[in-house]
Amino acid sequence: MSVVKINAITIPEGMGPQLEGRFAGRAKMVEQFDGFEDFQLLRPTEGEDRYFVYTRWASEEAFQNWMNSQDFERGHGSGQADGNAEQRKPVAQGADLMSFDVVEHVVKES
Ligand code: HEM
Repeated sequence: MSVVKINAITIPEGMGPQLEGRFAGRAKMVEQFDGFEDFQLLRPTEGEDRYFVYTRWASEEAFQNWMNSQDFERGHGSGQADGNAEQRKPVAQGADLMSFDVVEHVVKES
């Protein structure tokens, strides 16, 4: 059974474009990781003001392997010694991880 991990990121008012810019320039390593199934960056539009980083994994173990991996470290700016300290300054003020088991999953038949 797949699991969903949502990282709810709190950012200062008006910093949405900066956060979206960071994700636009992301490492794109997670999509190669064993057990990765889906990633979506969700911009709040109503009833919430945090950005949700939605990920889905084949198992809890797959997610834990990624969290303990170099890919996670590299995907979060460490090792990207591009010397652009301004670029690496954290945008987020806080982050809360939420976990779910996928009980039902329906996608549009192609
Ligand atoms: C303190 C906690 C965290 C913060 C502030 C944070 C913030 C960010 C930021 C700003 C990026 C964009 C790339 C960059 O700037 O380097 C990123 C990448 C990413 N984050 Fe996080 N993150 C955190 C923890 C997590 C957790 C727990 C998850 C799991 C749901 C997650 C999932 C992702 C994914 C999938 C990417 C793209 C990685 C890639 O392209 O390979 N993050 N994160």
